[in-house]
Amino acid sequence: MVDAEALENAARILRGGGLVAMPTETVYGLAADATNDRAVAGIFKAKGRPRFNPLIAHVPGVPEAARHAVFSPLAERLAAAFWPGPLTLVLPRRADSSLSLLASAGLDTVALRSPAHPVAQALLAAFGGPLAAPSANPSGEVSPTTAAHVAESLGARVDMILDGGPCAVGVESSIVKVDGDCAVLLRPGGLDIASIERVAGAAVRRVAAGPVEAPGMLASHYAPRARLRLDVVDPQPDEAFLAFGAPPAGAQVVLQLSLERDLKEAAANLFAHLRAGDRAVVERGLVRIAVAPVPADGLGEAINDRLRRAATPR
Ligand code: TXA
Ligand code: MG
Repeated sequence: MVDAEALENAARILRGGGLVAMPTETVYGLAADATNDRAVAGIFKAKGRPRFNPLIAHVPGVPEAARHAVFSPLAERLAAAFWPGPLTLVLPRRADSSLSLLASAGLDTVALRSPAHPVAQALLAAFGGPLAAPSANPSGEVSPTTAAHVAESLGARVDMILDGGPCAVGVESSIVKVDGDCAVLLRPGGLDIASIERVAGAAVRRVAAGPVEAPGMLASHYAPRARLRLDVVDPQPDEAFLAFGAPPAGAQVVLQLSLERDLKEAAANLFAHLRAGDRAVVERGLVRIAVAPVPADGLGEAINDRLRRAATPR
């Protein structure tokens, strides 16, 4: 795991403008000094991101976030209820924020999140500043939920990988833009919308991809190499089957999201199983991955969102 020496090394790399893969409770992030334009540019280069899309700045908590963004009472309530945790807030940028303009892609808003993983918090403490971090995978590919996933896909393009074990949540944070007393969901994620609405005290609008083309909002994203067929009850013999509950008798290669049909467990398994499905397709000469229907309530909204994007042809 991660000891004090590893954290000090990681902080030194970050101060020098390097890249460190860090565990968070959602997915592994590719972290760099969020106040350093060159370091942030290094993230885009390592991921092969086609354009400079804005990144999330990770902070220990509200006091640090408040140096960079203006919190309305609603934003304060959401942060108090869900930070640290899988909620990213998009808020008006403060004029005196030290965040790299590249990290926020020149917008007048910034995305901020306080991650719940102890290693992410320890790294933030050791580094002593905000960390820009998108998911630690090449652009368009499946997000990593273990340190091994990061090593497989980014390898030498990252200066150091901190291994904090498998991610407990398994899908990216929910992104909510807060403008005064109005909240809009930009990306469904690890925090279910019903919980957000309970604290907001009002319905939260969902928006489709806006002028800011969030990578997580591109039609094809989180994509494995194999093709996907969704909402499958009876998989064919030449399909790997991503099951949710007991699979049908005929299913050949079964990857179980959750036998007990628990959405939390399914979210935590989703990206690792998509990778395993990819491998099974290649190794066993199958034609594609078939996916069982997953209910759309609670975390199911984020799971279905990622599955739809993964199934969209590139
Ligand atoms: O769980 C997560 O959120 C992970 C972990 C590492 O924290 N991070 C993550 O980052 O998923 P990334 O870069 O893959 O997604 C960040 C999303 C993008 O869709 C981006 O467009 C959006 O946040 N975003 C960032 N700043 C924004 C802004 N000012 N306005 C609107 N969207 C913004
Ligand atoms: Mg991503």
